[in-house]
Amino acid sequence: MEKKTHRIHTSDDLEVSTYLEIAQEKSGVHPVSQSLEDLKVEKETVVVIDFGSQYSMLIARRVRECNVYCEIVQYDDPWEKVRELKPRGFILSGGPASVYADEAPLAPYWVYESRLPILGICYGMQVLSHQLGGKVTPGDKHEYGHSILHLSSTDNPLFADLEPEFPVWMSHGDRIDKMPTDFTSLAYTDNSPVAVMGNQQGIIGLQFHPEVIHTPNGKTIIKNFLYNICGCHGTWTPSNFAAESIAKIKEQVGDDKVICALSGGVDSAVVATLIHKAIGDNLICIFVNNGLLRKEEAERTIQVFKKNLKMNLIYIEATDRFLKRLEGITDPEKKRKLIGEEFIRIFEEEASKLTEAKYLAQGTLYPDVIESAGTKASKVIKSHHNVGGLPSDMTLSLIEPVRLLFKDEVRLVGLALGLPEEMIWRQPFPGPGLSIRIIGEVTRESLDMLREADWIVMNETKKAGLYRQLWQIFAVLTPVKSVGVMGDYRTYGNVAAIRAVTGEDAMTADWARLPYDLLARISNRIVNEVKGITRVVYDISSKPPSTIEWE
Ligand code: XMP
Repeated sequence: MEKKTHRIHTSDDLEVSTYLEIAQEKSGVHPVSQSLEDLKVEKETVVVIDFGSQYSMLIARRVRECNVYCEIVQYDDPWEKVRELKPRGFILSGGPASVYADEAPLAPYWVYESRLPILGICYGMQVLSHQLGGKVTPGDKHEYGHSILHLSSTDNPLFADLEPEFPVWMSHGDRIDKMPTDFTSLAYTDNSPVAVMGNQQGIIGLQFHPEVIHTPNGKTIIKNFLYNICGCHGTWTPSNFAAESIAKIKEQVGDDKVICALSGGVDSAVVATLIHKAIGDNLICIFVNNGLLRKEEAERTIQVFKKNLKMNLIYIEATDRFLKRLEGITDPEKKRKLIGEEFIRIFEEEASKLTEAKYLAQGTLYPDVIESAGTKASKVIKSHHNVGGLPSDMTLSLIEPVRLLFKDEVRLVGLALGLPEEMIWRQPFPGPGLSIRIIGEVTRESLDMLREADWIVMNETKKAGLYRQLWQIFAVLTPVKSVGVMGDYRTYGNVAAIRAVTGEDAMTADWARLPYDLLARISNRIVNEVKGITRVVYDISSKPPSTIEWE
């Protein structure tokens, strides 16, 4: 296989090596290249062939957690596209179909013709069996949940560092009745005589799901496949990615100028930093203060990007414009729409002054790329969620440096680039900001109240060491008025709600079982310190059926 080298150009060598050192210190999780020469590493890629499994992205994430680069392709993608990735091996995903169903997706011929190692997971294993001459039959029982896997022998490189028995997570109806010739059974469970099968060529089938957390040894199995069977070494690290990405941006952009909208969130921060490392002052960042940000958020963003990182930052104070448009508006979707529109208007006004700019940077992430590819849609340019959508008729070319990364990888790259931890681990904050946490009309007074309450919530949560364990925690200002008592006086003010949820993505979330004393401190401080709030309630609804935000 051709050796790929990544060369960083000389003028920035010092800068790049300095940040690699910072990366080493900061990330502490990955071996960082000792010198730029070490960056002449071969990019090792393993390709997941997606049969429509809900777990395909999880498989890709697990592979990357083993420091091997991974991309997802569709089962009907052409070899020409996959060949460019120079794969070291393939993983056939699970999927909802039965191999006997009409139009059941099967592995393309090139997978077998490549003679590369293949790991078939669940449906992927049945596909292997079906296509290579074995027999798949409907199981007597649908096997769902925990099973104990018994290894026939621990000598197989797939099982390195594993005990002879361990729990695995099953979810299948069909099972392997007859293996293809030259395959042997490598492990079994009570219900699956062939729970793992393999042949000499490194083609392996797993009846269980190694990618889910319910298979505690799953990551070791995936790692064994990648390292011991595909021969990977683990060269995919955040700092290698950063160095490669910076070199690519330099090459792509040359002396042209790039515009980047900063939102204060981690994605746009990482995008801007990568581009800045590559092209310096030819990157122009635009940061719009819509007046709906958290306390000190605008100041912090300016401090980090302009003062610390010395970026070329255009700061636009647009609070009045946004508040004017929000006057009298109570409908949440109208609020979102107006805020999005106003942002685009301002962004266009600014961008039109930057006539030399050729590129627009966006923080598109891999799940967005996969989603648009999965639906076979033509390339959709997703609006960057946190900046509320960007102009549709812009003539700028897009540059999307993190489009192949998952969110957690963006964070690691951010750490490797030396961005402040506070920015890296910031909880998601919606584009329309505090406006959708004020039920009813957004006014300067309601924003001030919510900002103070939110500040207390953040402060106490961080002090309690719980900030990073929660997906989101925030205050909501309701228009409900309630009576209180302070000293000898009767008070009458708003009810605030505290919303705290746990979860891995925003699709589902559970309300967080926060310690009572934390809730007590938050409530006590809000009622005492925020003028106008007389009562605090805690939201105990999960998503679904409730949403995370109140509006
Ligand atoms: P919901 O309320 O739908 O929120 O459960 C799911 C996640 O999305 C965030 N959210 C938004 N983010 N613009 C954004 O950029 C929005 O209009 C918006 N609405 C909700 C929310 O904070 C949560 O993380």
